Amino acid sequence: MAIRNIRTMGDSILEKECRPVTEVNQKLITLIEDMLDTMYEANGVGLAAPQVGILKQVVVIDVSEEPNPIILINPEIVEMEGTQTGEEGCLSVPGKSGVVTRPNYVKVKALDMEMNEVFYEGTELLARAFCHEIDHLHGRLYVSKAEGGIHDVVREEE
Ligand code: NI
Repeated sequence: MAIRNIRTMGDSILEKECRPVTEVNQKLITLIEDMLDTMYEANGVGLAAPQVGILKQVVVIDVSEEPNPIILINPEIVEMEGTQTGEEGCLSVPGKSGVVTRPNYVKVKALDMEMNEVFYEGTELLARAFCHEIDHLHGRLYVSKAEGGIHDVVREEE
């Protein structure tokens, strides 16, 4: 388990398409463990592999109070419904946020650590996190969707 360096906007790796995972091997397990450590250390609610410099379709998300991670391999959105408009931020764009409209409900198809097909449903913050993180796998940052651009946020100390 280790904290990895988070790439920030301007790093071209964040604009690249990620490859699907074909095998869960020890290297991938270590990547996922490190992504979880890195996300929790940074107080984030989600992290995608390209944010730590790996062009693979892997996402970790945790929007809960107690640790309750969701691990997504090769995720894709298969259903969406409604809209929500709200502030969004990204660990790769530190200190900034912007207003983004997303679906209010999404259903995601992915593979789990045993390469079994799994489905997740999310509304509100979880739906937003699914969309935001899956965008990362296709080289898209929220800033390109931010209505009126991005602005500074005052971070509260924890
Ligand atoms: Ni992000």
